[in-house]
Amino acid sequence: MTGPDKQAELQALLTEDRSFAPSAAFTEQANARDPKIYADAAKDPEGFWAKEAADLLWRKPWTQVLDWKPPHAKWFVGGQLNVSENCLDRHLTTWRRTKAALIFEGEPGDQRVLTYQDLHREVCQFANVLKSLGVRKGDRINIYLPMIPEAAVAMLACTRIGAVHSVVFGGFSAEALRERINDAKAKILITADGGWRRGGVVPLKQVADEAVKDCPTIEKTVVVRRVGDKAQVAFDPARDVWYHEAMATASAVCPAEPMDAEDMLFVLYTSGSTGKPKGIVHTTGGYLTHAATTVKYVFDLKDTDVYWCTADVGWVTGHTYIVYGPLANGATALMYEGTPDYPDKDRFWRVIEKHKVNIFYTAPTAIRTFMRWGEEFPKRCDLSSLRLLGTVGEPINPEAWIWYHEFIGRKRVPIVDTWWQTETGGILISPLPGLTKTKPGSATMALPGISVDIVNDEGQPVDAGYLVLTKPWPGMLRTILNNDDRYRAQYWEKYNLKYYFTGDGAKRDKDGYLWLLGRVDDVMNVSGHRISTMEVESALVDHHSVAEAAVIGRTHEVKGQAVSAFVTLKASVRGDEALIKELKQHVVGKIGALARPEEIFLTAELPKTRSGKIMRRLLRDVAEGRVLGDTTTLADPAVVAKLKTQYEGKDEG
Ligand code: WTA
Repeated sequence: MTGPDKQAELQALLTEDRSFAPSAAFTEQANARDPKIYADAAKDPEGFWAKEAADLLWRKPWTQVLDWKPPHAKWFVGGQLNVSENCLDRHLTTWRRTKAALIFEGEPGDQRVLTYQDLHREVCQFANVLKSLGVRKGDRINIYLPMIPEAAVAMLACTRIGAVHSVVFGGFSAEALRERINDAKAKILITADGGWRRGGVVPLKQVADEAVKDCPTIEKTVVVRRVGDKAQVAFDPARDVWYHEAMATASAVCPAEPMDAEDMLFVLYTSGSTGKPKGIVHTTGGYLTHAATTVKYVFDLKDTDVYWCTADVGWVTGHTYIVYGPLANGATALMYEGTPDYPDKDRFWRVIEKHKVNIFYTAPTAIRTFMRWGEEFPKRCDLSSLRLLGTVGEPINPEAWIWYHEFIGRKRVPIVDTWWQTETGGILISPLPGLTKTKPGSATMALPGISVDIVNDEGQPVDAGYLVLTKPWPGMLRTILNNDDRYRAQYWEKYNLKYYFTGDGAKRDKDGYLWLLGRVDDVMNVSGHRISTMEVESALVDHHSVAEAAVIGRTHEVKGQAVSAFVTLKASVRGDEALIKELKQHVVGKIGALARPEEIFLTAELPKTRSGKIMRRLLRDVAEGRVLGDTTTLADPAVVAKLKTQYEGKDEG
């Protein structure tokens, strides 16, 4: 999309005046149906969260709800609980014992249903396997798996014995995996021989082997057999253990370790505005409370529902809204391994039809892809089981919202646009489906118990500016692993420890509704994935031909943003199509396919200020075809003018 169109779209967004009130029938049955929930929680947020936390199973009650010494929060101080016990054991003494906990739909069409009893058994067995491999409370475990039930089993098994998991998305490269394993000092790596994707095999074990060559802390690798003889697997008997072999002899009795509410539950790496990913630390009691509460109110989850979140467990959405939140509520969660277009572009709708999915949660980028494919695909499937739709990961444009409403929700299903981050642990801004009138493109308002504001650089409230969180919340990150200074600097120093800085821009309309406007820092959002411009720049300059690189996220119709790179080569190097291809591949090797630049422009110079700072804003203007902004601070304004001419000639690869 070009610049002027983008401006027009933004303008249209902010004057969007369509609205959709919840139906009386939905409100009547909703978990949150009394609007007093907002006022009550606002009067006493700690009381609100304490009441929700009391629904969990505690081994020892807390003595203090919140201990807030900015920027460090402790929730449910003194309390003890175990996450796997809350997600599993608690349901075994009820009728839910034989209820489906996970319904797995494999890409090749295989299916597996695990009841709570089944999942409990497998988790206990695997926890014993981990123990037999020497894992102790507090140890770090890396998980690099496809979307298979064993991913949930591995996560829950860690929580059972107090080990800290770090899940790495299966699309990351060996190098990215290695960096994350080493930062977390993981002792065990859990992976699979491969995973299915569009009929082909993703060679996870091969990538894992490549990664652990330089991971001195890894003692054992546990390998799940998923694709069998379809993947070439090198097996090192001194290091590698087959999951199914270890499980065959493992006992199904494993007492859950009582954990302090503030014991570390997991680390999850995400991109920040520097080249190095941040290990976001979440703890036990507050996180689980936040996960369970938001599932109950935002997704209105009922015991009779089949709930499907299409995220990958490698991202925070998979942690909170496939595994912990739904299972803590005793729900039935569906897990799907493959892509939406295999074997055909109706796969998601076929899955909904087959399993009679009631609640469906996906990303705007997926919706825009479906729009492009056309409504004939959902139209040929029976979607009448759906009763609630959700979106997450990036702003949803009103056009996509309306399409979702019309062709998936068939104009009768509420939509919750949920705003949150890896750092927030769970949803913070979203409609409550039985209470909130929605507007296409607006995440509406903060949930009960959550306090947000929009402020300017000085911290004064404004109608358009930076989104901040003005009070601690239970699911908040506690720190960045091995780097508390960065935690403080990144999120809290901008507003002197008073507000949490989200990195997102937002606007409030005349009704007080919030409209999220995307990142204001150097983080790109490509198909709902967070990628830092610096990370891609470092990957590019790591190539022997590259002298300098500047990367921006340019507006992209389907992906939200696309990675656009401007590269200057070393003097002796001649740039051509082949080199551009090689550079793209180099980025894939360093980070993963998710970071592959959409386009790379070779340029003799990059526009810089007189102090040598690259003017990314101007590069964005160039890439989005806008009239150039102010160039007076440039050392050489001719550089950017030349670049623009070159870009418009589409001399790229
Ligand atoms: C963006 C994903 C607008 C935002 C859960 C945030 C959104 C970043 C929304 C976090 C939404 C997420 N509307 N923007 N509903 N949801 N974002 O850590 O920029 O992968 O800061 O967490 O995604 O991405 P992350």
